[in-house]
Amino acid sequence: MTTPPALEIRGLRLTLPGAARPVLDGVDLTVGPGETVALVGESGSGKSLTSRGALGLLPAGAVTEGAVLVDGEDVLTAPPDRLRALRTGRVAMVFQDPRATLNPLRRIGDFLTEGARAAGVEPAAATDRATGLLRAVGLDASVLAAYPGQVSGGMLQRVVIAAALMGDPVLLLADEPTTALDVITQAEVIALLVRLRESFRTGLLFVTHDLDLAAAVSDRVHVMYAGRIVESGPAEDVFARPLHPYTTALLASTPRLTAPGGRLSAIPGRPPDPRTPLTGCAFAARCPLATDTCRETPPEARRAPGRPDHHAACHHSARLADEGAVLDV
Ligand SMILES: Nc1ncnc2c1ncn2[C@@H]1O[C@H](COP(=O)(O)OP(=O)(O)OP(=O)(O)O)[C@@H](O)[C@H]1O
Ligand code: SF4
Ligand SMILES: [Mg+2]
Repeated sequence: MTTPPALEIRGLRLTLPGAARPVLDGVDLTVGPGETVALVGESGSGKSLTSRGALGLLPAGAVTEGAVLVDGEDVLTAPPDRLRALRTGRVAMVFQDPRATLNPLRRIGDFLTEGARAAGVEPAAATDRATGLLRAVGLDASVLAAYPGQVSGGMLQRVVIAAALMGDPVLLLADEPTTALDVITQAEVIALLVRLRESFRTGLLFVTHDLDLAAAVSDRVHVMYAGRIVESGPAEDVFARPLHPYTTALLASTPRLTAPGGRLSAIPGRPPDPRTPLTGCAFAARCPLATDTCRETPPEARRAPGRPDHHAACHHSARLADEGAVLDV
C-alpha cells in the first residue's frame, strides 16, 4: 500500500457569513511525507486560514467545499472525536508566538506530557519521551521543571516544537514560527525544524512572508493571492523563474539576502477587498500585463510546458516563461 500524503487539500473553498466571495477559493496543495512546502503571500491572502484548515480549525459559520485530507482522513467531514484525536496526534501546529501557546502558570513538563497522559500513557513513560524530544531539540531535562516565564523565547519555541512531536505527527504546520524571535534564534529554530523533518519524516507546511527562508528550506512553494494559489512548483524553479506576475512582483518587493543590491519596488495598489465580488483575475488591478481577458475571465492553474510540477494561474504566463522576458513592476 502506498503512503498517503501527509496533507492533501483539494479544491478547498471557504466562505464566511455575509461575505461577497470565498476567502479561500479552490485551494489545491499537497505535502508529501517528509516534504517541506512553503506557503507565501501578502498579509490577508489566506495562508493561516489554509494551514488552520488542516487542523479543522475554521472561523465560526464558515462554509466549506472540497476536501482536506490529513494522512488520508478528511478533516472537514471527520466527527469531533476523530478531530480531537487528529489534533493531539497526527497533526501538530507551531504558531508565531510560543508564549501565547503555553499557560504561564503551568510547568513546561506538564505542558509537554499532558497529551500523552490524556491518551493513557504512564506518566513516567510520557516524561521519558518528553526528555528524549527535549534532547532532540537541543534542550536538557531541567527545562521540565521550569515555568514558561523562566526560559527565553527561542527555548520556548523549541519546547513547542518538542510538544508538537510528542504525538509522532505525520504533519507539522508552522505558521510564521520564527517571526517573534531574533534573527540568530530564527536561523537556529529553522535549522532545527528542517533537521527534525528529516529524522522524523514529518511533512512540514511552512507559512512565511520571508521568501529567502522559503527558498532556503522548502522543497516546493505555493504562492497565494486573494485566497487562491496563483503559482506552485519546486522552490528553486519558482523563485528563479517565476511564471506569475504576482510572484515576480513579490520577489521584486522583498529585500533578499540571496540577491543583495537589487532594486526594490513596492507592489502598486492593494489586494482586492474581500467584501467585494471578483470577476476575472484577482491580481488584474495591480498587474502590468493585465488585458481585457484577465479582467473578464479568471485564469485556471496550468502546468508550464517543460517545467515539471510547476503551475501558474495566469493568462499570460507564457510571456514570463520566455527567457529574458522582463516585467517592470
Ligand atoms: N476568523 C475570521 N473571521 C473573519 N474573517 C477572517 C477570519 N480569519 C481570517 N479572516 C479573513 O480571511 C482572509 C485571510 O486571512 P488569513 O489570516 O488566512 O491571512 P494570512 O495570509 O495568514 O495573513 P497574515 O500574513 O497577515 O497572517 C483575510 O481577509 C481575513 O480578514
Ligand atoms: S491573468 Fe492577467 S492580470 Fe492576472 S496575473 Fe496574469 S497577466 Fe496579470
Ligand atoms: Mg497568517
